[in-house]
Amino acid sequence: MVRHRNELPVPTVVHLHGGHTPAESDGYPTDLVLPLSGWDAGHGGHGMVDARARIADGERDYVFPLRQRAATLWYHDHRMDFTGPAVYRGLAGFHLVRDDEEEALGLPSGERELPLMIADRSFDEHGAFAYPSLDRTLRTTPGVDSAFVEGVFGDVILVNGAPWPVHEVAAVRYRLRVLNGSNARRYDLALDPPPPGGDGFVQIGGDQGLLEAPREHDHLPIAPAERYDVVIDFGRYPVGTEVTLVNRLGTGSTGQVMRFVVARRALDESRVPAKLSEIAPLAREQATTTREFSFRAGTVHGHAGWVIGGAPFSPDLMSASPRLGDVEIWRFVADIHHPVHLHLVGFRILSRGGRPPGPFDGGIKDTVDLKPGESVEVIARFDGYRGRYVFHCHNAEHEDMAMMANFEVV
Ligand code: C2O
Ligand code: CU
Ligand code: CU
Repeated sequence: MVRHRNELPVPTVVHLHGGHTPAESDGYPTDLVLPLSGWDAGHGGHGMVDARARIADGERDYVFPLRQRAATLWYHDHRMDFTGPAVYRGLAGFHLVRDDEEEALGLPSGERELPLMIADRSFDEHGAFAYPSLDRTLRTTPGVDSAFVEGVFGDVILVNGAPWPVHEVAAVRYRLRVLNGSNARRYDLALDPPPPGGDGFVQIGGDQGLLEAPREHDHLPIAPAERYDVVIDFGRYPVGTEVTLVNRLGTGSTGQVMRFVVARRALDESRVPAKLSEIAPLAREQATTTREFSFRAGTVHGHAGWVIGGAPFSPDLMSASPRLGDVEIWRFVADIHHPVHLHLVGFRILSRGGRPPGPFDGGIKDTVDLKPGESVEVIARFDGYRGRYVFHCHNAEHEDMAMMANFEVV
């Protein structure tokens, strides 16, 4: 149980991203926790009233049973129409789930386990966050200046809140839990210089926990809300090396993320076993239903926005009603890049662009980055809890501009 008290001047609602959570604690976008100081400005954007909303005055107790595998989860604001500016101001953090299976592996731990939340921001001349909201008080009118319809990008890269930090490491293995906490920016991370022989990242997990076996990569493409669990062996570098984590999709200030300085030798008793975990297979034949959803630009209340299956988000519009325990295949198609996220369930990627899943599609995921024009099929079992949940694009500006939809587990 986690109690949230809202001392902000605006409503908030918290979602545990990747959590297998009962609907009443999942942070549905209209389940607002109103400011302790009072609120008179209405409950949704666009004058919308949601009859099913669970509104709380000042505080709410969230219950997280966490009956799930060890995984790198994170929590963030999910207020309807205003998630982008709220997360930009810092309403986000890690929530690490551990278990005995993972503990027994002997992975790098303690000081050698680094959760890294990467996020880009812009600052005004006073050093305050510069977010181009139409209504800077975040009280009534949602949305951003029309130049930012595709998303808000910053020119400063923060890692755990610090710009381009430098971290001293010993010449041993480290476990990095990398989260892209950016509103809209995608990264392609690489090590500069790469270690001799390349493949500096040994991926051990993804969004929803451990892979079955480690996978080696020399770069890591990461879209908003995705996570990678990777081991880097700094013992492959001579002591004294400075290793920059670069972003191959960035230019100038956004081309660099942080730096590691390999400062000293040390004893390394950590391991990366060849077998990490078991993942029960989900076969195409197990699916009872296949659904298709398009993610495209569209018109939202007379403005340019983003829609799923042609429709802007409305709490009243139910897009899918899977039965509890059923396995379903969901096929997504995109016009431009959209990182698609489902609440409640973890899924496997079945196909990407009509071909088998790619090198970064392994394990259990909860967010999948659709490339322009691409279609992706995912398969999931809708179990655990009944109730109303959302799925949406995790580009926070797209999400606020209505690229979200409901499903109800019945
Ligand atoms: Cu990261 Cu709807 O969530
Ligand atoms: Cu989520
Ligand atoms: Cu999108």
